[in-house]
Amino acid sequence: MADRIKVLLTEEEVDKRICEIADEVNKDYGMKPLHLICILKGGVFFTCELAKHLKMPVTMDFMAVSSYGAGTVSSGVVRIIKDLDEPIDGKDVLIVEDIIDTGRTLAYLIEVLKGRHPKSIHLCTLLNKPERRVKKQVHVDYTCFEIPDQFVVGFGLDYDQKYRNLPYIGVVEV
Ligand code: IMP
Ligand code: MG
Repeated sequence: MADRIKVLLTEEEVDKRICEIADEVNKDYGMKPLHLICILKGGVFFTCELAKHLKMPVTMDFMAVSSYGAGTVSSGVVRIIKDLDEPIDGKDVLIVEDIIDTGRTLAYLIEVLKGRHPKSIHLCTLLNKPERRVKKQVHVDYTCFEIPDQFVVGFGLDYDQKYRNLPYIGVVEV
């Protein structure tokens, strides 16, 4: 049977907010070239929508990661499943992620990427669940929406690989 999904953020709300965040990025970077790093798979819808509204010269690369650890508790060590195609040294980098939950993935990833000597590195997320944060050092520069501790799907986010294609953000009702 199909799961019931309750809408948390409508398509209009999400699209409008992404435009606002793109304006902020445009203001902050001006016409300096910006290198977007999309975290697969969840970040892909947000990255594309954001990129369409950016005015500076934009390049994009993709990285896929998974949490690596025994059982259900993430160890905080992240396995890189697909690395970047291009070096990032000397580039202004903006990491684009679907959601920051515990912060473990990004805490690790930011350290790895900083070691490759980008000119600057900032973090942009569609959703942020601050209540769940374990890694307090993860600084989020751009957040579209802060949400409560609920499991959400849509706009790239999945439940068992499903629902990534929903144009809105919803909560799966169990
Ligand atoms: P973190 O390392 O705990 O911050 O985990 C972040 C990753 O967990 C995200 O990139 C998502 O892939 C996944 N995740 C966390 N919360 C949700 C959710 O509510 N829905 C779908 N995926 C989630
Ligand atoms: Mg993710």
